[in-house]
Amino acid sequence: MIQRFVLTALAAVLILWQVAAGSAQAVELTESTLTVPFDGAGKTATLSPQEFAKGQKIFVDTCTQCHLQGKTKTNNNVSLGLEDLSKAEPPRNNLAAIVDYLKNPTSYDGEDDYSELHPNVGRPDIYPEMRNLTEDDLYDVAGYTLIAPKLDERWGGTIYF
Ligand code: HEC
Repeated sequence: MIQRFVLTALAAVLILWQVAAGSAQAVELTESTLTVPFDGAGKTATLSPQEFAKGQKIFVDTCTQCHLQGKTKTNNNVSLGLEDLSKAEPPRNNLAAIVDYLKNPTSYDGEDDYSELHPNVGRPDIYPEMRNLTEDDLYDVAGYTLIAPKLDERWGGTIYF
């Protein structure tokens, strides 16, 4: 009898928790959440929820294998967290600069060409998974990268191997 009560209570808590989590997610995808810096000069851009969803799908398909939750496998010093992006040379904490990275990736200090080391659309011979990404796709996935830390506080955090 007591066991049954405990189970029912547990189920109720789980359902409430799911409802709360679901509505939190709905609240978070507001216009301000979907608005990100467009360039380094103060211009902004607002993604539609559809563009955000598309960007998320592209991220899961082509980036998560190395950038789960915005961390970077093999080089945790260069995460996709906003702080690391902003300290790159040139700063990558805006849409145009991430799109540029996906065309012409460089080392964090901007000195070296990483087009043979990091997936990019300029080298479909090495990175065929990038071949079908359109310009819009690049903006959507860059947008997702900048919006994600607003939704997930663990985004870009430290990983311990
Ligand atoms: C094969 C693994 C791999 C994949 C797949 C990958 N990345 Fe990366 N990415 C890295 C590594 C490693 C670095 C750090 C490079 C360095 O040492 O500077 C990096 C760096 C970056 C940076 C620069 C971060 C900063 O703080 O300056 C951006 C932006 C980025 N990746 C975006 C993406 C996006 C978007 C995708 C999916 C389209 C993607 N990456 C797919 C491995 C990967």
